[in-house]
Amino acid sequence: MNTNKVELSKGIEILNSDGIIAIPTETVYGLAGNAFSEVAVSKIFALKKRPHNNPLIVHIGSIIDLDNVALEIPKKAYALMEAFWPGPLTLVLKKHPNIPHIVTAGNETVAVRMPNHAVALEVLNQLDFPLAAPSANRFGGISPTSAAHVANSFGFDAPFILDGGECERGLESTIVGFDGEEPILYRYGSVSAEDIEKICGKLKVHNNEEVAPQASGMLSKHYAPKTKTFLTDKLTELAISFKGKKIGLLLFSKKMDHINCEHQEVLSDQGDLAEAAKNLYAAMHRLDSLGLDFILAEEFPNVGMGKTINDRLQRASK
Ligand code: TXA
Ligand code: MG
Repeated sequence: MNTNKVELSKGIEILNSDGIIAIPTETVYGLAGNAFSEVAVSKIFALKKRPHNNPLIVHIGSIIDLDNVALEIPKKAYALMEAFWPGPLTLVLKKHPNIPHIVTAGNETVAVRMPNHAVALEVLNQLDFPLAAPSANRFGGISPTSAAHVANSFGFDAPFILDGGECERGLESTIVGFDGEEPILYRYGSVSAEDIEKICGKLKVHNNEEVAPQASGMLSKHYAPKTKTFLTDKLTELAISFKGKKIGLLLFSKKMDHINCEHQEVLSDQGDLAEAAKNLYAAMHRLDSLGLDFILAEEFPNVGMGKTINDRLQRASK
């Protein structure tokens, strides 16, 4: 933990006066403010330049706080909380009247999760309110997995940042909602769909078109570098066809020595998908800062976290 007591108190003071700060979580950094305060939440939307039809996730520090955030919780939701909280699973539940409509973009549902990060939990447990927090980057960009990413994304407008080091998981939470007791996957994330299905049975997956207005995570163009990006299962051919251009490669476990390209990011030498997930956004940030003509990403094995990685790469390449 890089955060000291003085910084922690300063962050808490800002939050207690309707201000916003960046906090570390195990997934990505969040831009946090009092979820019960319209004033604080408006500041989040303004700084992030996020459209108001895009709802935020509410973060709680203890299960007791859930009663002030959501109502009529399905049995399967409790089973999922038991299995994955604190952790990278967000549940979409019926909203409590305490939660202002600005948080939920007018929806009667609220997205809620308990993050698994010592700093985030410490902050939450010192406050009398939950924190609304989207990822701490400008809307549509690559999510931040370090304090430096947050600072770079906002430049002179950067908020006060609690530095909690590099995010352990590196990809956003998985979002699950319910139609009665039937679980619905709204966004692939840091808990694999397979692991969720072990607890609550088959997930119905919502596609982009169905949820685009609700879930920005499902917007087709999202998590995007500024550099034009391609996702391909024929990387060698594509790289050859870009001869003479400045390209960067985003690779799973092996460099491509036969391709003449100095900017090659290998996400996991061990071929470990969780490690690759952790490293993905930092590699995208690095490649994006090089002034390349194109980024070429290879398709990942489409299982477990590989599905989430492919999902983010598809959106980055739209
Ligand atoms: O890992 C994470 O979830 C991070 C950290 C900071 O917790 N947060 C994050 O927030 O990724 P954001 O705002 O970048 O993404 C929130 C997603 C969006 O896709 C939003 O549309 C969806 O949650 N969402 C929020 N409320 C919803 C609701 N009521 N129904 C469906 N989707 C909802
Ligand atoms: Mg985001």
